[in-house]
Amino acid sequence: MSSIVGLDGWRHTHLDYIDSTNAEAMRLATEGDAGQLWITASEQTAGKARRGRGWVSKPGNLYASLLLFDVASPEVISNLPLVTAVALHRAILDGAPVREDQLRIKWPNDLLLDGKKLSGILLESTLDPAGRQAIVIGCGVNCSHFPDNPLYPATSLQAEGIVLQPEILFLKLAQHMAEMLAAWDRGNGFATIRRDWLARAKGVGEPLTARFEDGEITGIFRDMDEDGRLVLVADDGTEHRISAADIFFGNIRGLGA
Ligand code: BTN
Repeated sequence: MSSIVGLDGWRHTHLDYIDSTNAEAMRLATEGDAGQLWITASEQTAGKARRGRGWVSKPGNLYASLLLFDVASPEVISNLPLVTAVALHRAILDGAPVREDQLRIKWPNDLLLDGKKLSGILLESTLDPAGRQAIVIGCGVNCSHFPDNPLYPATSLQAEGIVLQPEILFLKLAQHMAEMLAAWDRGNGFATIRRDWLARAKGVGEPLTARFEDGEITGIFRDMDEDGRLVLVADDGTEHRISAADIFFGNIRGLGA
Protein backbone atom coordinates (compact mmCIF):
# COMPACT_ATOMS: atom_id res chain seq x y z
CA MET A 1 0.00 0.00 0.00
CA SER A 2 1.32 3.49 -0.78
CA SER A 3 0.24 7.12 -0.68
CA ILE A 4 -0.78 8.70 -3.97
CA VAL A 5 1.77 11.31 -5.00
CA GLY A 6 0.23 14.79 -4.87
CA LEU A 7 -2.93 13.59 -3.11
CA ASP A 8 -2.56 13.93 0.63
CA GLY A 9 -4.59 11.43 2.63
CA TRP A 10 -5.38 9.10 -0.27
CA ARG A 11 -3.85 5.61 -0.44
CA HIS A 12 -3.50 3.04 -3.21
CA THR A 13 -2.90 -0.70 -3.43
CA HIS A 14 -2.25 -2.39 -6.77
CA LEU A 15 -2.77 -6.15 -7.17
CA ASP A 16 -1.68 -8.32 -10.09
CA TYR A 17 -5.00 -10.12 -9.91
CA ILE A 18 -8.01 -10.44 -7.62
CA ASP A 19 -11.54 -11.80 -7.89
CA SER A 20 -12.95 -8.25 -7.95
CA THR A 21 -11.51 -4.94 -6.75
CA ASN A 22 -14.98 -4.11 -5.38
CA ALA A 23 -15.08 -7.39 -3.45
CA GLU A 24 -11.57 -6.73 -2.09
CA ALA A 25 -12.53 -3.20 -1.00
CA MET A 26 -15.63 -4.60 0.75
CA ARG A 27 -13.47 -7.19 2.54
CA LEU A 28 -11.00 -4.53 3.67
CA ALA A 29 -13.91 -2.42 4.95
CA THR A 30 -15.16 -5.27 7.14
CA GLU A 31 -11.57 -5.82 8.38
CA GLY A 32 -11.38 -2.24 9.66
CA ASP A 33 -9.51 -0.33 6.92
CA ALA A 34 -9.64 3.45 7.41
CA GLY A 35 -10.91 4.23 3.86
CA GLN A 36 -9.82 6.84 1.28
CA LEU A 37 -8.22 3.78 -0.31
CA TRP A 38 -8.07 2.91 -4.00
CA ILE A 39 -7.61 -0.75 -5.01
CA THR A 40 -6.55 -1.43 -8.59
CA ALA A 41 -5.83 -4.75 -10.28
CA SER A 42 -4.28 -5.76 -13.58
CA GLU A 43 -6.86 -8.52 -13.92
CA GLN A 44 -10.08 -9.60 -12.19
CA THR A 45 -11.13 -13.25 -12.13
CA ALA A 46 -14.74 -12.50 -11.10
CA GLY A 47 -15.37 -8.86 -12.07
CA LYS A 48 -18.85 -7.65 -11.14
CA ALA A 49 -21.20 -5.47 -13.18
CA ARG A 50 -24.60 -4.06 -12.26
CA ARG A 51 -27.66 -6.26 -11.70
CA GLY A 52 -25.56 -9.32 -10.83
CA ARG A 53 -23.92 -9.45 -14.26
CA GLY A 54 -20.22 -10.23 -14.78
CA TRP A 55 -17.59 -7.76 -16.03
CA VAL A 56 -15.01 -9.22 -18.46
CA SER A 57 -11.67 -8.34 -16.81
CA LYS A 58 -8.66 -9.50 -18.83
CA PRO A 59 -5.36 -7.55 -18.47
CA GLY A 60 -5.09 -4.25 -20.35
CA ASN A 61 -8.11 -2.36 -18.99
CA LEU A 62 -8.56 -0.28 -15.83
CA TYR A 63 -10.16 -1.99 -12.83
CA ALA A 64 -10.27 0.37 -9.86
CA SER A 65 -12.37 0.61 -6.67
CA LEU A 66 -12.48 3.37 -4.09
CA LEU A 67 -13.34 2.65 -0.45
CA LEU A 68 -14.88 5.53 1.50
CA PHE A 69 -16.48 5.85 4.94
CA ASP A 70 -19.11 8.24 6.28
CA VAL A 71 -19.44 9.84 2.90
CA ALA A 72 -22.79 11.55 3.33
CA SER A 73 -26.36 10.98 4.49
CA PRO A 74 -28.18 8.04 2.87
CA GLU A 75 -30.47 10.33 0.80
CA VAL A 76 -27.59 11.64 -1.31
CA ILE A 77 -25.50 8.47 -1.70
CA SER A 78 -27.22 7.94 -5.08
CA ASN A 79 -25.38 11.10 -6.28
CA LEU A 80 -22.08 9.23 -6.14
CA PRO A 81 -22.28 7.34 -9.45
CA LEU A 82 -23.04 10.69 -11.16
CA VAL A 83 -20.13 12.40 -9.38
CA THR A 84 -17.86 9.52 -10.41
CA ALA A 85 -19.01 9.63 -14.04
CA VAL A 86 -18.07 13.33 -14.26
CA ALA A 87 -14.68 12.60 -12.63
CA LEU A 88 -14.02 9.75 -15.06
CA HIS A 89 -15.05 11.89 -18.03
CA ARG A 90 -12.59 14.59 -16.92
CA ALA A 91 -9.86 12.00 -16.27
CA ILE A 92 -10.10 10.54 -19.79
CA LEU A 93 -10.14 13.97 -21.45
CA ASP A 94 -7.15 14.93 -19.31
CA GLY A 95 -5.20 11.79 -20.26
CA ALA A 96 -5.95 11.23 -23.94
CA PRO A 97 -6.67 13.12 -27.17
CA VAL A 98 -10.43 12.57 -26.96
CA ARG A 99 -12.84 15.36 -27.94
CA GLU A 100 -15.52 16.26 -25.41
CA ASP A 101 -18.27 15.71 -27.99
CA GLN A 102 -16.96 12.16 -28.62
CA LEU A 103 -17.23 11.17 -24.97
CA ARG A 104 -20.69 11.43 -23.41
CA ILE A 105 -22.30 10.20 -20.20
CA LYS A 106 -25.21 7.82 -20.58
CA TRP A 107 -27.53 8.12 -17.59
CA PRO A 108 -26.66 7.43 -14.89
CA ASN A 109 -22.95 6.75 -15.20
CA ASP A 110 -21.73 4.85 -18.27
CA LEU A 111 -19.33 6.67 -20.58
CA LEU A 112 -19.97 6.31 -24.30
CA LEU A 113 -17.17 6.85 -26.78
CA ASP A 114 -18.60 7.61 -30.22
CA GLY A 115 -21.91 6.16 -28.94
CA LYS A 116 -20.47 2.88 -27.63
CA LYS A 117 -19.97 1.84 -24.01
CA LEU A 118 -16.43 2.51 -22.80
CA SER A 119 -16.80 2.22 -19.04
CA GLY A 120 -19.03 1.16 -16.18
CA ILE A 121 -19.39 2.09 -12.54
CA LEU A 122 -20.66 -0.15 -9.74
CA LEU A 123 -21.52 1.25 -6.30
CA GLU A 124 -21.77 -1.11 -3.34
CA SER A 125 -21.96 -0.66 0.41
CA THR A 126 -21.33 -2.59 3.61
CA LEU A 127 -20.75 -1.94 7.32
CA ASP A 128 -17.39 -1.93 9.09
CA PRO A 129 -16.87 -3.64 12.49
CA ALA A 130 -17.95 -0.43 14.27
CA GLY A 131 -21.18 -0.25 12.24
CA ARG A 132 -20.04 2.66 10.02
CA GLN A 133 -21.28 2.61 6.44
CA ALA A 134 -18.60 1.84 3.87
CA ILE A 135 -19.15 2.84 0.24
CA VAL A 136 -17.23 1.16 -2.57
CA ILE A 137 -17.18 2.81 -5.99
CA GLY A 138 -15.85 0.50 -8.71
CA CYS A 139 -14.80 1.78 -12.13
CA GLY A 140 -14.00 -0.35 -15.17
CA VAL A 141 -12.65 1.33 -18.31
CA ASN A 142 -12.01 -0.44 -21.60
CA CYS A 143 -8.53 0.89 -22.38
CA SER A 144 -7.47 -1.90 -24.74
CA HIS A 145 -10.31 -4.41 -25.18
CA PHE A 146 -14.08 -4.72 -24.82
CA PRO A 147 -16.54 -7.63 -24.44
CA ASP A 148 -17.74 -9.58 -27.51
CA ASN A 149 -21.40 -9.79 -26.71
CA PRO A 150 -22.41 -6.89 -24.47
CA LEU A 151 -25.92 -5.79 -23.53
CA TYR A 152 -25.08 -2.41 -25.12
CA PRO A 153 -22.66 -1.91 -28.06
CA ALA A 154 -19.17 -1.48 -26.58
CA THR A 155 -15.74 -0.23 -27.57
CA SER A 156 -12.29 0.47 -26.14
CA LEU A 157 -9.98 3.47 -26.37
CA GLN A 158 -7.57 1.36 -28.41
CA ALA A 159 -10.30 0.31 -30.86
CA GLU A 160 -10.93 4.01 -31.55
CA GLY A 161 -7.18 4.64 -32.07
CA ILE A 162 -6.56 6.20 -28.66
CA VAL A 163 -3.66 5.09 -26.45
CA LEU A 164 -4.11 5.51 -22.70
CA GLN A 165 -2.46 3.09 -20.28
CA PRO A 166 -4.60 2.02 -17.30
CA GLU A 167 -1.86 3.12 -14.88
CA ILE A 168 -1.90 6.69 -16.28
CA LEU A 169 -5.69 6.78 -16.39
CA PHE A 170 -5.82 5.64 -12.76
CA LEU A 171 -3.66 8.57 -11.58
CA LYS A 172 -5.89 11.01 -13.49
CA LEU A 173 -9.01 9.38 -12.06
CA ALA A 174 -7.71 9.52 -8.47
CA GLN A 175 -6.92 13.23 -8.90
CA HIS A 176 -10.25 14.17 -10.54
CA MET A 177 -12.24 12.04 -8.11
CA ALA A 178 -10.65 13.81 -5.14
CA GLU A 179 -11.55 17.16 -6.74
CA MET A 180 -15.11 16.13 -7.60
CA LEU A 181 -15.78 14.71 -4.12
CA ALA A 182 -14.58 18.00 -2.64
CA ALA A 183 -16.85 19.94 -5.04
CA TRP A 184 -19.78 17.63 -4.24
CA ASP A 185 -19.22 18.47 -0.54
CA ARG A 186 -21.28 15.58 0.90
CA GLY A 187 -24.20 16.53 -1.33
CA ASN A 188 -24.19 20.30 -0.71
CA GLY A 189 -22.55 20.91 -4.09
CA PHE A 190 -24.73 18.58 -6.14
CA ALA A 191 -26.26 21.48 -8.12
CA THR A 192 -22.81 22.15 -9.65
CA ILE A 193 -22.17 18.46 -10.31
CA ARG A 194 -25.60 18.19 -11.94
CA ARG A 195 -24.75 21.05 -14.32
CA ASP A 196 -21.39 19.41 -15.14
CA TRP A 197 -23.14 16.09 -15.70
CA LEU A 198 -25.82 17.58 -17.98
CA ALA A 199 -23.14 19.37 -20.04
CA ARG A 200 -21.56 15.95 -20.74
CA ALA A 201 -24.77 13.92 -21.11
CA LYS A 202 -25.91 12.03 -24.18
CA GLY A 203 -29.41 12.32 -25.51
CA VAL A 204 -31.10 15.09 -23.48
CA GLY A 205 -34.20 16.09 -25.47
CA GLU A 206 -34.04 12.90 -27.53
CA PRO A 207 -36.02 9.63 -27.56
CA LEU A 208 -34.98 6.79 -25.32
CA THR A 209 -36.26 3.60 -23.79
CA ALA A 210 -35.89 2.81 -20.09
CA ARG A 211 -35.96 -0.93 -19.54
CA PHE A 212 -36.88 -2.45 -16.17
CA GLU A 213 -37.04 -6.05 -14.90
CA ASP A 214 -40.78 -6.05 -15.63
CA GLY A 215 -41.22 -3.83 -18.69
CA GLU A 216 -40.07 -0.67 -20.41
CA ILE A 217 -41.09 2.96 -21.06
CA THR A 218 -40.28 4.85 -24.26
CA GLY A 219 -40.33 8.63 -24.41
CA ILE A 220 -38.21 11.78 -24.46
CA PHE A 221 -35.28 12.24 -22.07
CA ARG A 222 -36.32 15.63 -20.65
CA ASP A 223 -33.78 16.18 -17.84
CA MET A 224 -31.90 14.79 -14.85
CA ASP A 225 -33.56 16.17 -11.73
CA GLU A 226 -32.00 17.63 -8.55
CA ASP A 227 -31.99 14.12 -7.01
CA GLY A 228 -30.18 12.61 -10.01
CA ARG A 229 -33.28 10.84 -11.39
CA LEU A 230 -33.89 10.61 -15.11
CA VAL A 231 -36.96 12.61 -16.14
CA LEU A 232 -38.69 10.81 -19.00
CA VAL A 233 -41.83 12.10 -20.72
CA ALA A 234 -43.53 9.00 -22.09
CA ASP A 235 -45.21 8.79 -25.47
CA ASP A 236 -48.62 9.24 -23.74
CA GLY A 237 -47.39 12.52 -22.12
CA THR A 238 -46.93 11.21 -18.56
CA GLU A 239 -43.75 12.22 -16.74
CA HIS A 240 -41.66 9.53 -15.05
CA ARG A 241 -38.78 10.10 -12.62
CA ILE A 242 -36.59 7.04 -12.86
CA SER A 243 -34.04 5.94 -10.25
CA ALA A 244 -32.82 2.70 -11.88
CA ALA A 245 -33.18 1.23 -15.40
CA ASP A 246 -31.17 0.11 -18.42
CA ILE A 247 -31.23 2.92 -21.00
CA PHE A 248 -31.30 2.58 -24.79
CA PHE A 249 -31.27 5.56 -27.15
CA GLY A 250 -33.39 5.88 -30.27
CA ASN A 251 -34.72 2.75 -31.90
CA ILE A 252 -33.63 -0.24 -29.79
CA ARG A 253 -35.02 -2.93 -32.05
CA GLY A 254 -32.32 -5.02 -33.67
CA LEU A 255 -29.83 -4.48 -30.85
CA GLY A 256 -30.65 -7.87 -29.38
CA ALA A 257 -30.77 -6.10 -26.05
C1 BTN B 1 -21.55 -1.87 -15.12
O1 BTN B 1 -21.48 -1.16 -16.12
O2 BTN B 1 -22.41 -2.76 -15.01
C2 BTN B 1 -20.58 -1.63 -13.98
C3 BTN B 1 -19.28 -2.34 -14.19
C4 BTN B 1 -18.26 -2.04 -13.10
C5 BTN B 1 -16.97 -2.80 -13.31
C6 BTN B 1 -15.91 -2.39 -12.32
S1 BTN B 1 -14.32 -3.04 -12.74
C7 BTN B 1 -13.70 -2.52 -11.19
C8 BTN B 1 -14.78 -2.81 -10.16
N1 BTN B 1 -14.67 -4.18 -9.70
C9 BTN B 1 -15.70 -4.94 -10.06
O3 BTN B 1 -15.84 -6.14 -9.81
N2 BTN B 1 -16.57 -4.20 -10.77
C10 BTN B 1 -16.14 -2.81 -10.88
